Amino acid sequence: MKGIDKKKLLPDNYLEMKQEGKKIAMVTAYTYYQAMAAQEAGVDIILVGDSLGMVELGYDSTIPVTMEDMMIHLKAVRRGSPNIHVAADMPFLSFSVSTEKAIENAGAFYQKGLADSVKIEGGAEYAGIINSICKAGIPVCAHIGLTPQTSALLGGLKVQGKTLDAAKKLIDDAIAVQEAGAFMVVVEAVPAALAAIITKKLSIPTIGIGGGISCDGQVLVFHDMVGLYKRFTPKFVKVYANVYDIIEKAIEEYVKDVKEGNFPEEKHSFTMKKEIIDELNGII
Ligand code: KIV
Repeated sequence: MKGIDKKKLLPDNYLEMKQEGKKIAMVTAYTYYQAMAAQEAGVDIILVGDSLGMVELGYDSTIPVTMEDMMIHLKAVRRGSPNIHVAADMPFLSFSVSTEKAIENAGAFYQKGLADSVKIEGGAEYAGIINSICKAGIPVCAHIGLTPQTSALLGGLKVQGKTLDAAKKLIDDAIAVQEAGAFMVVVEAVPAALAAIITKKLSIPTIGIGGGISCDGQVLVFHDMVGLYKRFTPKFVKVYANVYDIIEKAIEEYVKDVKEGNFPEEKHSFTMKKEIIDELNGII
């Protein structure tokens, strides 16, 4: 079913999809047009990720992203995809300073940005905060495994949960965020076998990004999957198009046309009455 005909999905619908074995397709978006395309393409959920910082704003990491940055892009995405569930990523320090601040910021996305849910990076250590936001009436998607906001403490942007202890900790994290009330959990960069165990253990859907085939759904960063982000492409990305190359070629052709006097053509120009032109020519 195309996005325009779709009914916006709510947390219970994702639970049903898991129970019925229907896969959930999530993609990130940051602008009006990206959101429109995602809606038309029939995604089940859009994430306004704080990956915004890297793929749209040109930062080296997600750390500098602010609530204000997120809000501008969340509102644009909302306008582009009125029929799709939009989850908004809580940026660095927007939820970890205090429970009050976390509820206030999640509330701003939900109430003023019109997000349908918020996403929080972190496992068991954030269960209390996730629970408080849920209790305030705001659906929460959790995010475990590789959590880019704290990647400096995780040894960099690398696969998580490879040792027995680390794997057990991730299973505990998954259970903790479910018990805290999260309706969905993103599982990033963990071995496929571990993501499969987590998926089996949880009643809420798991959304993999580098989590293998067994997750209940998948998410990719828009720019990675359409070939717009040139700095690096993680192993878990499937690149479906080379949009950057198409854009670059189009601009290159435009520059050439301008320099060689081939643009604009008559069809791109406006006309006016001959007698006015003659009169104007008489004046000068
Ligand atoms: O910020 C983001 O885009 C994310 C996805 C990678 C899940 O958190």
